Amino acid sequence: MDLKTILLDKIKYENLTKQELFNLITISKENNMGDYALPCFSFAKTLHRSPMQIAEEIKNSLILDGFIEKAEVVNGYLNFFLNKKFVALKLLESFKDGFKPCKSNKKVVCIDYSSVNLAKYMHIGHWSTTIIGESIARLYENQGYKVYRLNYIGDYGLPFGKMVYAYLKWGNKEAVEKNGIDEIQNLYVRFCKEENEELLSKAREISKKIEDKDKEIYPIYEWVIKISKSEAKRILDKVGIVFDSWKGESSYNDKMQPVIDEIKSSGLGKISEGALIVDLSEYNLGVSVIQRSDGASLYVTRDLAALEDRYNTYKFDEMIYVTAVQQCNHFEKLFKLCELLKKPYANKLYHAYYGMFSTPEGKIASRKGKQALFEDILFAAEKKVREQITNRDLSKEQKDELVKKIGKSAVAFSVLKVDRIKDKIFEVEKATSLDGETSPYIQYTLARCCSLLNKAKTYNIDINCNYADLEDENSFNVIYSLLKTINEMNTVIYSAFEKKETSILARYILDLCKAFNKFYVDVKVLDLQNVNTTKIYLMLVKTIKNALEYMMPLLCIDLVEYM
Ligand code: ARG
Repeated sequence: MDLKTILLDKIKYENLTKQELFNLITISKENNMGDYALPCFSFAKTLHRSPMQIAEEIKNSLILDGFIEKAEVVNGYLNFFLNKKFVALKLLESFKDGFKPCKSNKKVVCIDYSSVNLAKYMHIGHWSTTIIGESIARLYENQGYKVYRLNYIGDYGLPFGKMVYAYLKWGNKEAVEKNGIDEIQNLYVRFCKEENEELLSKAREISKKIEDKDKEIYPIYEWVIKISKSEAKRILDKVGIVFDSWKGESSYNDKMQPVIDEIKSSGLGKISEGALIVDLSEYNLGVSVIQRSDGASLYVTRDLAALEDRYNTYKFDEMIYVTAVQQCNHFEKLFKLCELLKKPYANKLYHAYYGMFSTPEGKIASRKGKQALFEDILFAAEKKVREQITNRDLSKEQKDELVKKIGKSAVAFSVLKVDRIKDKIFEVEKATSLDGETSPYIQYTLARCCSLLNKAKTYNIDINCNYADLEDENSFNVIYSLLKTINEMNTVIYSAFEKKETSILARYILDLCKAFNKFYVDVKVLDLQNVNTTKIYLMLVKTIKNALEYMMPLLCIDLVEYM
């Protein structure tokens, strides 16, 4: 419900247009200043009157039909106090049927995220791209977009030459079949440890054979990729993420020629030491190498080819890349090249980059290598959650489900609640704690709402009754402020979507939960001595529950009914 528009309707002041008034009316910062304020200073010149006088005149023009309780002129401001009861009941009414995402706007967005290099395990760093990408995808869906989730896997280049060569030299089929990704990784790590000129040149040879789809080598490469891919799928499945496309870098390897031809014919390209380059130094971007002197393609060239393919396939209105801040220069170059090539999608590209996500030194043991793996982080969170709920009176299945839902959400929320660009530290105790700015706290609030509503069922209170009278002034103020906060929800979601900044929504949910929990402590919600009040309270609880259930999935927080 747009309270500001309703307020505007009650002003019948002819010397100013609705638009002029609309532009200046703001939400009051302090409660004793009312709900909205209109500063009248800027009208003084044109209306040849003092701001005070203007405020007074506007005040006299107001229709007082119950919506506005009173208006006060204070130092050139007109402060509006809405009738809390009237507005609260109207708001409750408007929230009665829950919250729904926007209707389709017929627009298409492609989001390139997760995009792991298959030569490596998914590690802690992949939490950021994966979860931020997914949350942005959900925000776009919420706004009515058709979203295509693209996992542009790194399945191209020398690492695979090394891997396949290591397999041929030291590996065997049975071991790989039995141990899957671990065996492949061990072979790769062994190669990297023993790497020398001779091994390298062998790996290059194999790499070339993979590119040429050699009859003997290519099937081995395909097999290795298949195993690595299903490992990535298994992990993504655990966090509930499903991609529409897994087309990786290698898919574009034989689509380089048109890109190279285009760069040449556009006049942008130059040959430098045998390589094809575009000099972007006048844009402060340095040089972009399009084709190496040995003919090999490059990351940026494959990205150019992928873009062309994606535009033809999806006809996207927006294309978003989610990667670490370290890739900024790459994407600036890519976007500049598209602009210079006058691509129809040049102004539809966006790079959503993020800061580093890490654990405090030595805190989470990695099963393999130096860096904690994606799953190490998940397991650490799940372990903590399990400790916390062992004594609860729940079945084993219930506990297992809670551990999964709370653990995964806790890691996700640790990423999403902080500004995208900032570095983040994953502290498992903090992230899984029930109090503090955490997802378990949010889930707990939802569970509390569910439990209240369940109890209400046994108390046989019909919460769809007509509005009852509410006597207690104090609790009414709290209800009113909670409802007004909920009324801001869609504006907040829009802002998170527009800026691709999940922390805006995270902050809002946390504040809402805090306000609700304070309310819960301050009043007795289920008070059978006071059924009328209880009915209103329960409608509020239901509204909060609906709002949480609507927002939590946008931040990859799983819903729980009990905790
Ligand atoms: N595979 C890359 C990496 O792990 C990320 C790919 C991002 N997407 C892209 N279209 N370049 O660093």
